[in-house]
Amino acid sequence: MFVHRLTAADHGLLDVAVRRFRGIVVEDHAPFLEDPATVAFVALEDGDVAGWVRGCRQRHVGGYSQVQLYEIGVAEPARRHGIGRALLTAFRDHAVREGHSKMWLFTDEDNHPAKALYEACGGRPSPHADAGYWWLLDSGAVR
Ligand SMILES: CC(C)(COP(=O)(O)OP(=O)(O)OC[C@H]1O[C@@H](n2cnc3c(N)ncnc32)[C@H](O)[C@@H]1OP(=O)(O)O)[C@@H](O)C(=O)NCCC(=O)NCCS
Repeated sequence: MFVHRLTAADHGLLDVAVRRFRGIVVEDHAPFLEDPATVAFVALEDGDVAGWVRGCRQRHVGGYSQVQLYEIGVAEPARRHGIGRALLTAFRDHAVREGHSKMWLFTDEDNHPAKALYEACGGRPSPHADAGYWWLLDSGAVR
């Protein structure tokens, strides 16, 4: 398994991910792939998309930049083999390399697998939202 960051050329991989994990058909992936805010990765196993994570870069009113992890998913038969952790780690490491101060997300209060993943990967429950998690990536961010 390896994790690949989607580029503007990755229409085919994104198309598989969107169909598999969102169950929708999208005519043109260019607006998403070419949006400067977009950050997205897929996990590939034997050339097939076993998981994905996507999110966006944001500027916080506090003066720093951050990334929101908007969605992460792993194909059901491939779960509990470390793919979710690999995707989240790739997303986080990329945010660190880009110099963002914070990574954050919302999940559902009753999504126990997701909450377990975020906690296993160092996420801290948000003080602002019941089902939010955040990662401080540098000391410049307001908590
Ligand atoms: C959440 C999800 C992405 C986890 O992906 P995954 O590939 O199964 O996770 P990993 O195998 O990398 O798990 C890493 C760690 O997270 C925790 N974890 C993950 N799934 C868990 C589960 N079902 N129960 C308990 N702990 C779990 C464990 O600590 C695990 O480490 P371990 O296997 O060594 O015990 C996957 O369950 C999924 O796609 N769910 C449906 C989509 C979804 O709800 N996404 C989140 C929306 S916000």
